[in-house]
Amino acid sequence: MWQLKYAITCVLLINLVFITYLLLYTKTIVKDHTGMFGNKNLFIPWNEPNHELVEGKASCQKRLLLFGMKQHWKEFCKFPQMPQFNQLVQFPRTFDCSNLSCSVNLTYSESIKDIRGADMVLFTDVYQWLTPDMWAWAHGNRSETQPWVLISLDSPLYASGLTPPEKFYDTSFNWIASYKSDSDVSLPFGYYEPFLQDKPLDMDLKSFVQNKTRLIAWMSSNCETLQWDRLRLVNELNEIIHVDMYGKCGEKEVPWNDRKVINSLLGNHKFYLSFENSCCDDYISEKFWRALDIGMVPIVVGASLEQYTKFAPPGSFIHVEQFPSLAALSVHITISLQTTRRNTWNIADGGKREEL
Ligand SMILES: *[C@@H]1O[C@H](CO)[C@@H](O)[C@H](O)[C@H]1NC(C)=O
Ligand SMILES: *[C@@H]1O[C@H](CO)[C@@H](O)[C@H](O)[C@H]1NC(C)=O
Ligand SMILES: *[C@@H]1O[C@H](CO)[C@@H](O)[C@H](O)[C@H]1NC(C)=O
Ligand SMILES: *[C@@H]1O[C@H](CO)[C@@H](O)[C@H](O)[C@H]1NC(C)=O
Repeated sequence: MWQLKYAITCVLLINLVFITYLLLYTKTIVKDHTGMFGNKNLFIPWNEPNHELVEGKASCQKRLLLFGMKQHWKEFCKFPQMPQFNQLVQFPRTFDCSNLSCSVNLTYSESIKDIRGADMVLFTDVYQWLTPDMWAWAHGNRSETQPWVLISLDSPLYASGLTPPEKFYDTSFNWIASYKSDSDVSLPFGYYEPFLQDKPLDMDLKSFVQNKTRLIAWMSSNCETLQWDRLRLVNELNEIIHVDMYGKCGEKEVPWNDRKVINSLLGNHKFYLSFENSCCDDYISEKFWRALDIGMVPIVVGASLEQYTKFAPPGSFIHVEQFPSLAALSVHITISLQTTRRNTWNIADGGKREEL
């Protein structure tokens, strides 16, 4: 038995900031484990200022600059359907971490001169607009003790704007926060924890299974993928076994920002094609965790079978790599329908679930 923990991406945005704030207090030497920027020691010493704790009040303030953000983030978090995220894109704002003596003043800017004087700069998905000249200016405005942090939940293929020009490869980022498990700050899209004790099933299993009237769903708003032809694979599978295709590249558009509609639309499917846009180490995106959360068995392409086995709940998915052909996969899906009862997942309250 296990429970699922996952967050939608906006929530991660705020977590990143908190975690990065905690990093301010670390003094360890940090290396670029990812190799994304050369396998170099990237540490620039951070001298923690001596400060006295004023009772009930932060005695000091750290200035964090969030630099660069895809426009769609800013828009995404502003949707009236998601009021809980609106404040995440309000800048500047200050917040306190309960056991830290400094408060944080978080500002956002796309203007390079604002890098000057910040205690830390967080580069978030700087899209393609940072030219080599601008990287040089950014370095010119950086103080010696100012840590730079790369924050991205996209695969390197989709965050190419974060790669500095060769000249600055080894000197740009002190820390990397990403989905990769060997990042300085690892931010997986989701994870699970086994329940410590057996928990009785608190849902109507019969009704859950009866509601699963449809077979396979796929939903995507990005029809073009850089690394491999995802749409083609979906189409080829659809020729053998029917796939309901939703989203921009499917037959039916869905309001992508309306969780309720999406959940009810996808929820009556038994399987979900969780095909990632990048086949990269550790890259198991929210698609996968959402499918489990909604109660579908994900059929996956992305990270290797070995990695899914490491990160996902046991027996919770079907990996395309396990089959020699799409036909063999389709046969497996058809056969597993007969054993649906054993293969279904229970969604209980609060995202808790159990293996049946
Ligand atoms: C703050 O509290 C958390 C949870 O108790 C702890 O893990 C963390 O190390 C603390 N941070 C500092 C800087 O004391
Ligand atoms: C946070 O920083 C911004 C920019 O430096 C400043 O305008 C704002 O007044 C600060 N907010 C607080 C509460 O200190
Ligand atoms: C600081 O950034 C500005 C652009 O905002 C740039 O014109 C200037 O040259 C930079 N300073 C240095 C020392 O590179
Ligand atoms: C099955 O669908 C019905 C009608 O939409 C709904 O009321 C019920 O809660 C669903 N059952 C489960 C277990 O999701």
